[in-house]
Amino acid sequence: EFVGHTAIVVFGASGDLAKKKTFPALFGLYREGYLSNKVKIIGYARSKLDDKEFKDRIVGYFKTKNKGDEDKVQEFLKLCSYISAPYDKPDGYEKLNETINEFEKENNVEQSHRLFYLALPPSVFIPVATEVKKYVHPGSKGIARIIVEKPFGHDLQSAEELLNALKPIWKEEELFRIDHYLGKEMVKNLLAFRFGNAFINASWDNRHISCIQISFKEPFGTEGRGGYFDSIGIIRDVIQNHLLQVLTLLTMERPVSNDPEAVRDEKVRILKSISELDLNDVLVGQYGKSEDGKKPAYVDDETVKPGSKCVTFAAIGLHINTERWEGVPIILRAGKALNEGKVEIRVQYKQSTGFLNDIQRNELVIRVQPNEAMYMKLNSKVPGVSQKTTVTELDLTYKDRYENFYIPEAYESLIRDAMKGDHSNFVRDDELIQSWKIFTPLLYHLEGPDAPAPEIYPYGSRGPASLTKFLQDHDYFFESRDNYQWPVTRPD
Ligand code: BG6
Repeated sequence: EFVGHTAIVVFGASGDLAKKKTFPALFGLYREGYLSNKVKIIGYARSKLDDKEFKDRIVGYFKTKNKGDEDKVQEFLKLCSYISAPYDKPDGYEKLNETINEFEKENNVEQSHRLFYLALPPSVFIPVATEVKKYVHPGSKGIARIIVEKPFGHDLQSAEELLNALKPIWKEEELFRIDHYLGKEMVKNLLAFRFGNAFINASWDNRHISCIQISFKEPFGTEGRGGYFDSIGIIRDVIQNHLLQVLTLLTMERPVSNDPEAVRDEKVRILKSISELDLNDVLVGQYGKSEDGKKPAYVDDETVKPGSKCVTFAAIGLHINTERWEGVPIILRAGKALNEGKVEIRVQYKQSTGFLNDIQRNELVIRVQPNEAMYMKLNSKVPGVSQKTTVTELDLTYKDRYENFYIPEAYESLIRDAMKGDHSNFVRDDELIQSWKIFTPLLYHLEGPDAPAPEIYPYGSRGPASLTKFLQDHDYFFESRDNYQWPVTRPD
């Protein structure tokens, strides 16, 4: 399937995001045959580079897997070019418009299709969006779409200001706000999994489920990015956006149709049902030196202000005030510099009251990364003469089950959606506002004069020492390691 004759412009083309994510994603789509050679890709940035220097810079992150992929790299690079120009003067935009016009003329394009990707810091975001609209939008002669990247504001007020500044320039239907977690395979599967399976759908409520956890763990700290991270913290970086998006898909009601707006309507509705956060229902942490002293503490970073209370770990208890979810604790937890890199959803069911001993809770685990998998821990008789029960699992490990499938990178999947004009996996304005409404009071508290001191945890550990108790207090039950372990023979 090809989307033809499209001009794709990447602003901030010499920056990190473009280099590591945007261009590799465009190449990935090309490599897999989802982007035809009828596209023209233009990098645009302030850095003074010629075409060759620009190409040398981006090519290092392209992934090649099979024979012939190297040729595809060369073919792809022929579709790319670069414009070096300031963001706040018309010259560059005029040149850009001429370049695209020429491309469209050469190819007898009647309806122009232009995709603008803003991989830019917030400070130049509005000026670029304004100038692009003025000089490069095709107007009535075609379609323009604009992909924007977080941060979408710093709190509720600044998010509202940003939305209001953009509103007169770009229509909501032209805007694609990326949250790359919505492009991850296991996240994209959530609605199909929930609403496509009667047994899951029927048990998806407070009568059957005792606790939900969405957990994000990274094994590295903020090394080198400390100065940037210090005013952001883990809640803005990962929880208010990525984990909250996962939560909405996991808990929303069935949309009236699979139309993108119907999906987003339900997402907004569930966000509105989240009760005000209880400041006592939050555990915050910051990483210290690793136990062997080899890895630095967060505050050892010279760009971090001394005595910073910046939160690099948070666990937040949430409640959803609907008939379905009343009384089910929901935990969003995220941390940097932990013992492993893993993102997963854990849905723990109530223990079935029964006539058997040693029955454990069922637990559904959806592992978003690494190594996508979905498994349900279940009770089963020990095979053979024994009458005892044991915990085992129904296991859908993607690598085993879908051996030869191409699973796109999150950015590949989302850029493709945007090219097709599909908004399902992008964040709508009202969704964004709701998400900030939930977290802004907590952020102000954590950054205000009475901010609690974060609990220090060693770099490379499981997180703050009080995490286990926090989880237990939220009705999460820890299975004894003797009872159950994810099979050790399977590489994670
Ligand atoms: C980004 C955060 O949005 O998501 C980073 O700014 C974080 O701090 C990253 O590392 C995680 O994304 P992924 O796809 O690597 O899980």
